[in-house]
Amino acid sequence: MWAWLRPLFVLLFPEEVTNPPWGEPGTVSSPLRRIDAMGRALGLRPGRCLLKADSNLAVCGSVKARGGMFEVFNVAAHLAKAFFGGLEVRESELQSVFDPRGAGFSSAALAEDPKLRAHLAEREIVVGSTGNLGLSVGLGAAALGMRAAWKKSLLRSRGVVVVEHAGLYDEAVAAGRAESASNPASHFVDDESSRVLFLGYSAAAFELRAQLAELNVEVSPERPLVVHIPCGVGGAPGGLCWGMHLAFGAAQPVRVFFAEPVAAPCVTLALCTGKGAAVCVADIGLDGKTEADGLAVGRASALCFETCAPLVEGSYTIEDCTLFEHLGALVELERSFIEPSCCACFAGPGHLAAGSQRARWLLAEGTHVFWATGGSLVPEAEREALVARTPMGRQ
Ligand SMILES: Cc1ncc(COP(=O)(O)O)c(C=O)c1O
Repeated sequence: MWAWLRPLFVLLFPEEVTNPPWGEPGTVSSPLRRIDAMGRALGLRPGRCLLKADSNLAVCGSVKARGGMFEVFNVAAHLAKAFFGGLEVRESELQSVFDPRGAGFSSAALAEDPKLRAHLAEREIVVGSTGNLGLSVGLGAAALGMRAAWKKSLLRSRGVVVVEHAGLYDEAVAAGRAESASNPASHFVDDESSRVLFLGYSAAAFELRAQLAELNVEVSPERPLVVHIPCGVGGAPGGLCWGMHLAFGAAQPVRVFFAEPVAAPCVTLALCTGKGAAVCVADIGLDGKTEADGLAVGRASALCFETCAPLVEGSYTIEDCTLFEHLGALVELERSFIEPSCCACFAGPGHLAAGSQRARWLLAEGTHVFWATGGSLVPEAEREALVARTPMGRQ
């Protein structure tokens, strides 16, 4: 499906995807690079510390675009097929992955066919997130000429209608779901349970595998790959974890850790208690308030819990002040900016060092990949304000 979309992406986002960081023109990809200086600060050996920079992911600058864009374009592809075939499309079809084989049209039609574009303009996409998911869904929908309900200034400037829901994230998702259900021309991108979204994230595992091979990074029982991923509701890290299970298989040991804020460890709670989405952080007296935008989620995705409980190696938490320490180190040592929330993954080595014998072995013998999940679309002024809060910024 991603491959089928390439000609369309080249038409819609020529600046971002004509020469992507990895893959053929039209691939929505991000760089993988060594960060040895940061690795040294984290106690890792040279060559054993890599940054998967979804912070610079083509088009939307965050991991959430992998799922969000995939779902929006998947909906549009189903609608196009029904339109060309003179058929009605059912919501259940929109929740399955479009099969381009035998579709009878190229993805480029979604940019070039005026009648199809007019048809798409009658449809609405709703998303519960004000964050990076909302941004990527909104930008994808706007590029296709579809209406979308969501996020703030950048989206508004591209003609997207923005509605804001107050309250906790699971309530915002529920509000978006209800709003969409009342409109038959509307599709809701469900961050808590969409399988299409999940599959969109998972494809990144194959990109990572190919990039590791290009960099000649060994992944073997003696040299496991340890992947640290910031985690909110669990959709993106869950999809990536599941994808890595498929991409690397049992022969190539990949150990995935989820990183969460101390105040909102919803997936850790779901995993520790075994209760999944039946438990939320308020149940253990936490208020969910954190500076880690995108990770401030009180209740885990049931889909993440059910899929990843048997696959994930572990999870850990981080205090907000430590996020800014890691951000300061990354800016100073690697000249890289990522969202503070993404720095949650840099807590991994410290937790492994203080952990079991197996954890210490993973720390010493593994090659560590830190998934920088967002950053490039943070406006310059906001970026400067965030860096000013790091220890280096305060000097
Ligand atoms: C930058 C960033 N990292 C990580 C995540 C976590 O993704 P998920 O909520 O799917 O676990 C988000 C969510 O919006 C995010 O914006």
